[in-house]
Amino acid sequence: MNRELENTRHAATEELAEVRDLTALDQWKVKYLGRKGKLSSLMNRLSEIPPGERPAFGREANSLKQDLTAACQVRLEEIREALEAEKLVRERVDTTLPGRPLTGGNLHLATKTLEKIIDIFTRMGFQVLESPEVETDDFNFTFLNMPQDHPAREMWDTFYLEGGNLLRTHTSPGQIHAMRRFHPNPVRVILPGKCYRYEAVTARSEFMFHQVEGLAIGESITMADLKGVLISFARQMFGEERQVRLRGSYFPFTEPSVEVDMDCILCRGEGCRLCKETGWLEVAGAGMVHPAVLASGNYDPGKYTGFAFGMGSERTAMLIHQIDDIRYFFGNDLRFLRQF
Ligand code: FA5
Repeated sequence: MNRELENTRHAATEELAEVRDLTALDQWKVKYLGRKGKLSSLMNRLSEIPPGERPAFGREANSLKQDLTAACQVRLEEIREALEAEKLVRERVDTTLPGRPLTGGNLHLATKTLEKIIDIFTRMGFQVLESPEVETDDFNFTFLNMPQDHPAREMWDTFYLEGGNLLRTHTSPGQIHAMRRFHPNPVRVILPGKCYRYEAVTARSEFMFHQVEGLAIGESITMADLKGVLISFARQMFGEERQVRLRGSYFPFTEPSVEVDMDCILCRGEGCRLCKETGWLEVAGAGMVHPAVLASGNYDPGKYTGFAFGMGSERTAMLIHQIDDIRYFFGNDLRFLRQF
C-alpha cells in the first residue's frame, strides 16, 4: 500500500507539471484530491492493511494529501500569473501612437451671420429681445395695421395652427411685445429669430429663415436717425466704403416705408450678375413706425415717433459670401457648411 502512495505521489506530481490552464487543474484536482479521487480510494482501503501498520499509512496518506493540496495551490498561482501576463500583452496600449484627431464642429452660417448682426447693433446701443415664433393673428397682422381682410396680409401668408394661432411670418410682432414691455420708456431693441412663410421654396426663398427686427421709439426720432443707423450697419457688415440709398416702398406698419439698398459689393455700382445689373443690393425693409402701430404698443402717436427695420439673415450671408441658392443653408450638406 505504501508503494501505491508513492506511485500516486509520482504520477500526480508529473501530471500537475503538465497542467496549463484552470480547466485542466480542476480535472487534476478531481482525479487526485476529489471525493472519489485516487487519494480517497486509497484511504478507503485502510481495512486491507494489518492493524499495526494503519497509523503509519494514515500519516503517509495525510502528508501526501497536504503536499498535493499545496502543490495544487502553487500551480494555481502560476497559472493565474501566466494568464495575467498574457492579458497584459494582449491588451497592451501603445501610448506612443498619435491620438485620434478631434473633429471640431462650428456654428451654422445662419447663426454666425445673426451673431455678427447682433454684435453690430448691440454696440450701437440696441438691446436684444426675443419674441415668440408661435403668434396670434393679432400680433402678426392686426396690431401691425393689417386688420382682417387687409390685402397686404397676402404678402405674409403663413402656416396656421389648430386653435387659430400661427407661425409668425416676420419678426415685426416683436415690435408690439417690446413696446408693451417698455412703455412709457424709450425703446431701442433688436429682435432676431426664425420666421415662416407659406410660399414656394426657390433659390431666393425658404419657407423658414431668420430675420433681425430693429425698433427705436422716443420723443424726437426722425428718419435721419434711421438712415444713420442703417448706414453705420451697412459699413460695418459689408465694408467701410458702402453707399446706402433709401427707396420708397410700402409696408402697412411703417409710414413712410423704404427699401434699404447699398451699392453692390461685387461691382461697386457698375452693374454685374450679383446685382442683376442695377448696381444696388437690397439689405432691409424699413420705415417710420405707423401711428396705428405706436397706438397698438400703447405709445401716444402725438408725442412719440420711431423707426423700424427688418432684414433677412440668410440673404445677408448670401450677399457677403455670394451664395446663389438659399436652399444650401438647410440642405444639411457638410461640404457647404464646412466652408464657413
Ligand atoms: C418684412 O418681413 C417686414 N416685416 C420687414 C420690415 C420690418 C419692414 C420693419 C419695415 C419695418 P419682407 O417680407 O420684405 O418684409 O422681408 C424682409 C426680409 O426678410 C427680406 O428682405 C429678406 O431678406 C427676408 N426674407 C423674406 N422672405 C424670405 C424668404 N422666403 N426666404 C428668405 N428670406 C426672406
